[in-house]
Amino acid sequence: MLKNFWYALEFADRVGREPAKVTCLGQDFVLYRTAAGAPVCLSDLCVHRGGALSMGTVVGDCIACPYHGWQYDADGACVRIPANPAERLIPRKARVDAYPTVERYGMVWAFLGDLPEPQRPPIPVIPEHDDPVFRMVQFEMEVAANYERTFENVVDAAHTPFVHGTAFGNPDKPEIPEFEVRKDDWSATADIKLSPPPPKGLWGLLAKRKPYRHEYVTVTNAWYLPNIVKLHVRLPIGDLLLYDFNIPLSQDRTLIKILGYRNFFTGAWADANARKRIGKILLQDQPVVENQRPELLPFDLADELHTRSDALQIAYRRRRAQLIKDGWWLGDDDIITGDGPRRTATVIASPARTDNPELASAWVHKARAGKEQA
Ligand code: FES
Ligand code: FE
Repeated sequence: MLKNFWYALEFADRVGREPAKVTCLGQDFVLYRTAAGAPVCLSDLCVHRGGALSMGTVVGDCIACPYHGWQYDADGACVRIPANPAERLIPRKARVDAYPTVERYGMVWAFLGDLPEPQRPPIPVIPEHDDPVFRMVQFEMEVAANYERTFENVVDAAHTPFVHGTAFGNPDKPEIPEFEVRKDDWSATADIKLSPPPPKGLWGLLAKRKPYRHEYVTVTNAWYLPNIVKLHVRLPIGDLLLYDFNIPLSQDRTLIKILGYRNFFTGAWADANARKRIGKILLQDQPVVENQRPELLPFDLADELHTRSDALQIAYRRRRAQLIKDGWWLGDDDIITGDGPRRTATVIASPARTDNPELASAWVHKARAGKEQA
């Protein structure tokens, strides 16, 4: 799993004045909004006794821990310890990690890492979000697979005739013509010619009025680090774009959140149908990704076989190898893994630590609980 990226953690309309717990990179975070509406993302682990702040209460711009009521401000600094007399100073180490947080494209994003602002990779641009010709639906689903497996699955055009033969794949035309990959440091994009069958159901009705004149449609597949895939399908009836966020809950569980945009059937009445189509595709992928072995994406490119049609995934694996060399990988010791009892709770360093060199070394919080102490 990669640190030092902006992660879309939650649909923005689910983040309000009540604390919301989210999980990413195997760690828990609490999201809430200040009185002025700004989203906040803090480590969910109270530094006092490891209480879950997400079970607490938002007080003004602060969040109060449910256990002993310590209050943390939006920068993660503890500003009140109710058991102490008012005149006692609050120790500087009494703070939780606070992550830079923004709201964009209907998502709340947090920067999970400690890079200073100028060095942070960008948030991908979703131009359709503010374009009034597009209508958006949200979708989400949890799968028991590693996020890099689900991420690569969406990028992968060659699986559609086999896994999605009853949706948009065409088993009679499995060949993927040559395509070029356009790359930069944070993304890779390819225009791929596919031959999906004409849509059925509600969309098929519209398609009948605009018959298929082409043998193929151009689909743009793109990945954006660390975990986002865009699919832009240019159907004769209009454009369909799926932005697919593969959120690593743990090594082996992924929360897939999707923003689906379409510029046809843009009434609210067609939303349920659009969501149903997305759900159908994900349910087709689910058993495949949940049964891939090894469960985790190999580190060595040579550990799996690749063909020309895997060019986008190869580009990802190469870029990932570079970032691992650069120290951006969170290994097994850094994250909470598996379904077993949690023994340690670690916290991803936020920029607040590097801003305070005095705290950087002293302020390593490792709470131990559960079995190890029993
Ligand atoms: Fe949070 Fe004590 S555990 S205030
Ligand atoms: Fe798929």
